[in-house]
Amino acid sequence: MSRVFVTRPIAESALAKLRSEVEVDLWAEPEVPPSHAELCARVVGVEGLLCLLTDPIDAEVIAAAEKLRVISNYAVGYDNIDVAAATQRGVMVCNTPGVLTETTADLAWALLTAAARRITEAERYLRAGRWRSWSPELLLGHDIHGRVLGIVGLGRIGRAVARRARGFGMRVLYHNPSPKPEVERELGVEYADLDTLLRESDFVSLHTPLTENTRHLIGARELALMKPTAVLVNTARGAVVDTEALVSALKERKIFAAGLDVYEGEPLPPGHPLLECDNVVLLPHIGSASVATRERMAHMAVENLIAGLKGERPPHLVNPEVLS
Ligand code: DGY
Repeated sequence: MSRVFVTRPIAESALAKLRSEVEVDLWAEPEVPPSHAELCARVVGVEGLLCLLTDPIDAEVIAAAEKLRVISNYAVGYDNIDVAAATQRGVMVCNTPGVLTETTADLAWALLTAAARRITEAERYLRAGRWRSWSPELLLGHDIHGRVLGIVGLGRIGRAVARRARGFGMRVLYHNPSPKPEVERELGVEYADLDTLLRESDFVSLHTPLTENTRHLIGARELALMKPTAVLVNTARGAVVDTEALVSALKERKIFAAGLDVYEGEPLPPGHPLLECDNVVLLPHIGSASVATRERMAHMAVENLIAGLKGERPPHLVNPEVLS
């Protein structure tokens, strides 16, 4: 029986399926990931690894797992894995695309709405007992309906966010490495270069994977192009935005607000400068965190792992070149 290491408790039904096929070594701590050293130690002798985006599966971990054949990431993003090192060793890498698209798009909209209408700030105000009276100038935000939404990265989640914008009667611009004429026709979205999108949008929502090309894609120059009334939403990966530049833009009111679910360093440490900004809504990376979606992700990650270990092509393989 193959042995696998699972780096965190996931949906019990998926774990049961996995246990029926392979021998499972489970990291039982729900909120604390294994350290790098613990990872290196626990992968010795395993053929499969089911890991999370919090686990850096670098060349050292892969080298320590001399029997490893499949890495199944419980996430659609796989920037935590050194795919080149895995491929070189002939190790399959899998992810969980599709199942979390709509859930993450819902959360991007929640952030957009909360930041534009100052919802979390307003709640803090009320809970602090500061609400004296209905008042014409109290906690004014910006309208969403009829405005311009700019989507950076028109993949599955970007498209799901664009679809929701139709209900708000918005014009939608998008930027993507390659234009997508079929989506333009389907959703009525318009292609724009990044600078034009940043200049013209009232809301900019990021949906690009983190790669060497997208690291700090939004920095001081890009933030300076945005409208002073604009809102930036990031549910993709923290490092797509230069955090220091964003903190300055928020503090100096160069943009109106931001809504963030992801950060350059996670978890966001106490005392982080973002925590001092009142015009940012901060969430702890919960884009896909619905009961149904997390269960589907768990099953998908398990299916990928079992298929790979059986010598079959996993349904969601990110480095198919290992098979050739
Ligand atoms: C992912 O899957 O990449 C998300 O960030 C977590 O669901």
